[in-house]
Amino acid sequence: MVGRRRRLGLIVALAALLSACSESSPSTLDPHGPGAARISFLWWVMFGLSILVIGTVVGLTAFGIRRKVRPEGSDDASGIRLIVGGGFVVPAIVLTVLFVMMVRDLGTEASELKSAQLTVDVIAHQWWWEVRYDDGDIVTANEIHIPVGRQVKMNLSTDDVIHSYWVPQLQAKVDMIPGRVNELALQADDAGVYRGICGEFCGLQHAKMQFLVVAEEPADFDAWLQRQTTIPPADDPGLKAFLGSTCGGCHAVAGTEATGTLGPDLTDFGSRRSIGAGAVENNATNLAAWILDAQEIKPGSKMPPQPVSASELRAIVGFLEGLK
Ligand code: CUA
Repeated sequence: MVGRRRRLGLIVALAALLSACSESSPSTLDPHGPGAARISFLWWVMFGLSILVIGTVVGLTAFGIRRKVRPEGSDDASGIRLIVGGGFVVPAIVLTVLFVMMVRDLGTEASELKSAQLTVDVIAHQWWWEVRYDDGDIVTANEIHIPVGRQVKMNLSTDDVIHSYWVPQLQAKVDMIPGRVNELALQADDAGVYRGICGEFCGLQHAKMQFLVVAEEPADFDAWLQRQTTIPPADDPGLKAFLGSTCGGCHAVAGTEATGTLGPDLTDFGSRRSIGAGAVENNATNLAAWILDAQEIKPGSKMPPQPVSASELRAIVGFLEGLK
């Protein structure tokens, strides 16, 4: 009775731990797209098989400990059968099953890549994500919008060191390696916002190199894409303050004289959920603090403190938060 209660307590504690983990971080075991669903299924198969193998080994060990020692010289073929069966036949079956599943999944991935009708270029930088649509006609950063239920081909590359692109709830992790472009088919089955992370240590702010995949209905996605071509009025006092400072040297805003490429493109900045690739929430207070001294929030980031007056800061913050 006590043993059963203890076991139950252990199971409840494990379940609580698992649920706490899944609330704080996105999990591959909570898939929202075909890529992650395949990985999740494979994971459960491997988990089931390993439980079976461990259970058998532990059972046989217990059986061997309890078994009476046979008199010397007595003939016993069961030992040989066990070695051949457990050491060769069963592992060969298990590995063959997993190999066939893996080859089938690779084939599916290849056909998904071919069927993708939208291509998005994602370029990793220390420590943010550049996102390009339509061969670079539309550029954004740190938020990747995609239409729900459609395969999107991601061209993954890097501008500096090795990074790794990972949206656990949607697809596998793929490294971004200097000098090459890796391709990945990504699809979300449900509308929603999915957290992406850099999965490879890439320097001081690796942990603050996050992004979001915003999956929306195709009509909403088309409307979002259309909004990216909206040009801010040239006489906007905020734009004038923005261009009058050093901002435009590193950042771009479509349709203006700001064409810098060192930092993230800011064309739809006001609609983004975070500042600094997931460093802080995007609001006027955090943006003002970021402009004045980004190093306080994200030490090591390439953005130096900006010597702007209080009125210039207000105008720039108002301008950027209005870019939607
Ligand atoms: Cu980029 Cu870690």
